[in-house]
Amino acid sequence: MQTITLNNGVTMPQLGFGVYQIPLEETAEAVYQAIKAGYRLIDTASIYGNETETGEGIKRAITEGLVTREELFVTSKLFILQASEDKAKETIELSLETMGLTYLDLYLIHQPYGDIYGAWRSMVAAQKTGKLRAIGVSNFKSAKMIEFVGLNEVKPQINQIEVNPWNQRVEDQEWHDKYDVQVEAWAPFAEGRHDLFTNPTLAEIGKQYGKTVGQVVLRWLMQRGIVALAKTVRPERMAENIAIFDFELSQEDIEKIAALDKKESAFFDHDAPQQVEWFMERMLDTEN
Ligand SMILES: NC(=O)c1ccc[n+]([C@@H]2O[C@H](COP(=O)([O-])OP(=O)(O)OC[C@H]3O[C@@H](n4cnc5c(N)ncnc54)[C@H](OP(=O)(O)O)[C@@H]3O)[C@@H](O)[C@H]2O)c1
Repeated sequence: MQTITLNNGVTMPQLGFGVYQIPLEETAEAVYQAIKAGYRLIDTASIYGNETETGEGIKRAITEGLVTREELFVTSKLFILQASEDKAKETIELSLETMGLTYLDLYLIHQPYGDIYGAWRSMVAAQKTGKLRAIGVSNFKSAKMIEFVGLNEVKPQINQIEVNPWNQRVEDQEWHDKYDVQVEAWAPFAEGRHDLFTNPTLAEIGKQYGKTVGQVVLRWLMQRGIVALAKTVRPERMAENIAIFDFELSQEDIEKIAALDKKESAFFDHDAPQQVEWFMERMLDTEN
């Protein structure tokens, strides 16, 4: 597995497996199968509600001797109401306990709302004690990331943001490169939106190499130096999505993919008032 070195010297796999929206009863098996297929980076979050099951899949893979804990790179995230100094401290401990782990390889502030500065202080403290090897943020626009780097002594190692052929984030990546904050792509397939998996341009590019659309997209992210998280519950697709290190997209292919950029989210804008309102209402409903 190809690796990337973060700004604090920690290395991580460039391709990973995400467990968002996997039904609870399937999560442990999916994580186990993903590790069996060769994935070493596993991405969950407290709001996904499946940290327990993710931990179970990891434990089974370790117990059966497929991997050691040190070979895995496990990520979790704190959500909006956990974004304060005290709550973050508690939530880190809770994530570790829930997953049955003594440390996490990466811990992120999931959304750019709440007392993110207080949460960051607790994350920095947990990093110093070795409970978190790397720390970062998610869904921060470039301007917010720059502010956050400017006003903290320890800068994020990662910003996990939406990146896919419809929302390529080229300028955002340049800003992140400037500040040495690694871009990690969520929803690399845009969850199939805008008919991604049957897109003629992507299919034609893949045909030249005997590769699928999914493989072209992930390979494109690898060649851009972006860490990518792909989700699937199907073992055959887990194998397909990881078989991307035996071909290289040409400059011409890359230009064709660049032309697909709509420069807008396939989901929502984190700064849109309606979206922030949706998050706030949901928070009050769930008290999560
Ligand atoms: N930080 C954040 O705010 C945030 C937000 C969203 C996601 N994430 C992370 O990023 C990970 C990935 O994003 P995502 O799960 O939203 O979306 P995604 O990976 O872009 O897309 C997943 C969808 O694609 C399908 N799929 C996967 N491989 C395929 C293939 N080779 N051929 C055809 N279909 C395929 C899956 O179906 P099947 O499962 O049926 O195969 C699923 O419906 C998440 O699991 C999560 O860890 C983070």
